[in-house]
Amino acid sequence: MAAYSSSSSISYYEIPWVEKYRPTKVADVVGNGDALSRLQVIARDGNMPNLILSGPPGTGKTTSILALAHELLGPNFKEGVLELNASDDRGIDVVRNKIKMFAQKKVTLPPGRHKVIILDEADSMTSGAQQALRRTMEIYSNSTRFALACNTSSKIIEPIQSRCALVRFSRLSDHEILGRLMIVVEAEKVPYVPEGLEAIIFTADGDMRQALNNLQATFSGFCFVNQENVFKVCDQPHPLHVKNMVRNVLEGKFDDACAGLKQLYDLGYSPTDIITTLFRIIKNYDMAEYLKLEFLKETGFAHMRICDGVGSLLQLSALNFLLWRVIGVQFHSQMLIEIQACNNGIRAGRQPPLILLAAISGPTANTAVAAIPSHPTSPLHPLTMVLAACSTECLSGLSGGDG
Ligand SMILES: Nc1ncnc2c1ncn2[C@@H]1O[C@H](COP(=O)(O)OP(=O)(O)OP(=O)(O)O)[C@@H](O)[C@H]1O
Ligand SMILES: [Mg+2]
Repeated sequence: MAAYSSSSSISYYEIPWVEKYRPTKVADVVGNGDALSRLQVIARDGNMPNLILSGPPGTGKTTSILALAHELLGPNFKEGVLELNASDDRGIDVVRNKIKMFAQKKVTLPPGRHKVIILDEADSMTSGAQQALRRTMEIYSNSTRFALACNTSSKIIEPIQSRCALVRFSRLSDHEILGRLMIVVEAEKVPYVPEGLEAIIFTADGDMRQALNNLQATFSGFCFVNQENVFKVCDQPHPLHVKNMVRNVLEGKFDDACAGLKQLYDLGYSPTDIITTLFRIIKNYDMAEYLKLEFLKETGFAHMRICDGVGSLLQLSALNFLLWRVIGVQFHSQMLIEIQACNNGIRAGRQPPLILLAAISGPTANTAVAAIPSHPTSPLHPLTMVLAACSTECLSGLSGGDG
């Protein structure tokens, strides 16, 4: 490990790994199989249509366009490609002058190939500048093709969208990110444990750029990639901590869940950090599907309230309560079913406490068991006690029964 902190390794840090390992061929770009196979066909056959590549950050849009332009134009890349991104002035004047001039320029290219104008981060272009592009795109279409990359395709005006083939990129899967991380880890000889890579994948949330940056930051900070170091570098709420919170809610330990939440809040994590981690944990948590959907719904509402500016501990604790109430609802309806089963059991002459114990499980068991007296005097007694432990909701549900 010490070897990596020696001065010889400093050169490793000079180029960010995201640039060092930026794929140069379309085939090397990971994930988004359908989108990339379309681009590969274009790279092979030429005659590129006007394109809009749209999708979340760090998924390979810029990389794919640049790789495609390189594959199409080879040694003519320099004179055949005009690349403008959000750091360049791309107002209406630039469209009228620079883009139009480039489109008019005569360049000798191999047959079937066109000049390419790459407008990266095109969603930040003003709509005036986009309007000015409309006719230019058509007039020079025999010699020049446009490739626009953006995060939100709806920010591209409709007339431009209608002139382009839309290629959608989505977040990369954990497996795809892991594959790429393994390549970098081996090339850079990064000492790691699998849990460390898992943590990187978790924090990256489908963003390859983020994953590579977090890997490099952890390596240069600690020379070893394990879970603890990754979370120190990325400084996100520890998923294990959030997972415990969800488990406490599920087990009905409301106070413990709130204490866990307060601990996170006191560590200085913003409510948005906490709620996004909570969302990701719930999404992958092993629980009944309808419960998961209810949890996600409540988390979504809480996120909305936080985005509206109400990011207090009170709001987060209220979310804990709402999640707990979801469990409560499940508790009552489940209880109703179990108690009705018990009723039938009692009528059939079986021992009620045993039936109750066997029938009621999980978070409901404690309440039920506590409610059953050790020496029931009458077969119906324990049942009455359990009913007392349920809400009126449950009782009203039973009132139609035999009481
Ligand atoms: N699909 C991918 N396969 C391999 N590497 C990738 C992929 N996506 C991103 N990367 C890595 O992340 C870096 C950034 O990717 P890129 O610039 O293509 O992202 P982008 O989709 O254009 O994001 P943004 O919307 O923020 O511009 C690349 O240099 C590359 O190292
Ligand atoms: Mg980009």
